[in-house]
Amino acid sequence: MKNTVSTLLEQKQSGDKITMLTAYDYTTAKIFDECGVNAILIGDSLGMVMLGYENTLPVTMEDMIHHTAAVSRGAENAFVVADMPFMSYQVSVQDAVVNAGRLIKAGGANAVKLEGGAEVCEQIKAIVNASIPVVAHLGLTPQSVNAFGGFKVQGKSLGKARKLVDDALKIQEAGACAVVLEGIPAKIADIITKKLFIPTIGIGAGNGCDGQVLVYQDMLGLTTGHTPKFVKRFAEAGALMRQGVSDYISETKSGAFPAQEHTYAVDDEVINELMKECD
Ligand code: KIV
Repeated sequence: MKNTVSTLLEQKQSGDKITMLTAYDYTTAKIFDECGVNAILIGDSLGMVMLGYENTLPVTMEDMIHHTAAVSRGAENAFVVADMPFMSYQVSVQDAVVNAGRLIKAGGANAVKLEGGAEVCEQIKAIVNASIPVVAHLGLTPQSVNAFGGFKVQGKSLGKARKLVDDALKIQEAGACAVVLEGIPAKIADIITKKLFIPTIGIGAGNGCDGQVLVYQDMLGLTTGHTPKFVKRFAEAGALMRQGVSDYISETKSGAFPAQEHTYAVDDEVINELMKECD
């Protein structure tokens, strides 16, 4: 059964934690969908993990549509949420509705996600009025990396914590169907989760949220270098891939691959005749 906004809301009401993972292509989306993940996010994190940029800012609408369409084809049951990239919704409400519509029409997404609180409420209202579900995103919102002066935990002072609670209430009132809470203290995420009737999905926001989301390359051990505190590496798929590729290289060089079982046979008669002709 396809998960919808109602499924996520029911999960909050019944206390069934929502599981969300990022995916950016058909094969990965199909695996995650078959595992039973509730929602798949085509995050603009694809700028870093798929395209090798330093941050999410260069990601375009074309990048998002291309990857969203691939994921949508692989996600039979999971609720598909596509990120609105930097500058696709900030400039005007009209841009926001047009671009959200493209992610639904051309990308096949079930909802869009955008970053920000009070300042994007007009955009949220207009997109929701166009019958497109919106997931909001508060806290350490990566598109504001320059304004924050780096990837820093948000909401630690009383003033900033108050603003987070206020923004959460405002985006709910504007019609958001869920909110991602990223990089904020767990106790603040708990307060927001209790205050809202829409689900909260945390990343680096503790276990009091209604659900969790992680970038799959982080949680499957595909990324190298610094691992953020909030990431748990549930598998070491990177090590597995490195081993497989090394084995392929050495077996190909030694001639051990391809073996008999990987090779197509042909009748001797055909070969004998062909050899005569080729002599
Ligand atoms: O872009 C992304 O992957 C995200 C998640 C980290 C929530 O926004």
